[in-house]
Amino acid sequence: VQDHAIRPKRLADYIGQPRVREQLEIFIQAARGRGESLDHTLVFGPPGLGKTTLANIIAAEMDVDIKSTSGPVLERPGDLAAMLTNLEPGDVLFIDEIHRLSPVVEEVLYPAMEDFQLDIVIGEGPAARSIKLDLPRFTLVGATTRAGLLTSPLRDRFGIVQRLEFYGIDDLTGIVSRSARLLGVEADGAGAAEIARRARGTPRIANRLLRRVRDYAEVRGRGVIDVEVADRALDMLHVDHHGLDHMDRRLLLAMIEKFDGGPVGVDSLAAAIGEERDTIEDVIEPYLIQQGLMMRTARGRVVTRQAYAHFDLVPDSATPDAS
Ligand code: ADE
Repeated sequence: VQDHAIRPKRLADYIGQPRVREQLEIFIQAARGRGESLDHTLVFGPPGLGKTTLANIIAAEMDVDIKSTSGPVLERPGDLAAMLTNLEPGDVLFIDEIHRLSPVVEEVLYPAMEDFQLDIVIGEGPAARSIKLDLPRFTLVGATTRAGLLTSPLRDRFGIVQRLEFYGIDDLTGIVSRSARLLGVEADGAGAAEIARRARGTPRIANRLLRRVRDYAEVRGRGVIDVEVADRALDMLHVDHHGLDHMDRRLLLAMIEKFDGGPVGVDSLAAAIGEERDTIEDVIEPYLIQQGLMMRTARGRVVTRQAYAHFDLVPDSATPDAS
């Protein structure tokens, strides 16, 4: 059973993110009622929370096709023009990592979003000509990790903006139970909840851990995921009881041991742990901040008392509490 087979296909199968679901339900039903395409929609949030899944659900609920690409793939204006001229009326054009579009490609996107016009220069020098084409009405769904990464003219052209939040334990438990059912493995409530608790609030991680726990259950157990099997498997995977993985612990421990708990600039941190700055900002720290283990301040990142407690370390008196 592949990943895409366990992704929810319709809003009704989508667990969690109640605000996003309610709003999309209303906007989709209204657009359908008027026989229109849905307004351009921006979805942002940390990786693995279901931005691509939502884009596919929007297309399914609107009963249209989806054509998918990503910011880095669209190197030149012609690459975007090819996608745009390939759309049928009402289609969803999904651009993942939309913050990584080059400025010249972004320029082509503005009139396409606003007036459904393709405005492009072909050729070079004296032979260069500008061509204008009418495009069918379509819905752009853009995905990015942080809305602040978009230029404001691009952000302003989305009529619908949705922020995905980390999932709570109950919703993640529901997702693990649903995935286990689709994978054909038995997981009891406590077993599913244990995986959920240690999945960093992230469905993609929960589903990955579920597959590994299933492997462990089949080889070392009786093929059933209960809390004991889940706990042993997750320990083996070095996922701790808070759900922190190796990189999370490395980041927090570097802040504690090398920078006295901070404040420390993100570039210094990146150098200290040998990670890209973007990976820290987009992948690692959002969950640690949400969990109150570290904070972003004007002077840099700082760890909290909760982070020291996590490692059974004693903070000095200046260490802040999670706010
Ligand atoms: N699988 C991944 N994300 C999901 C979600 N939000 N609801 C149901 N199944 C999922």
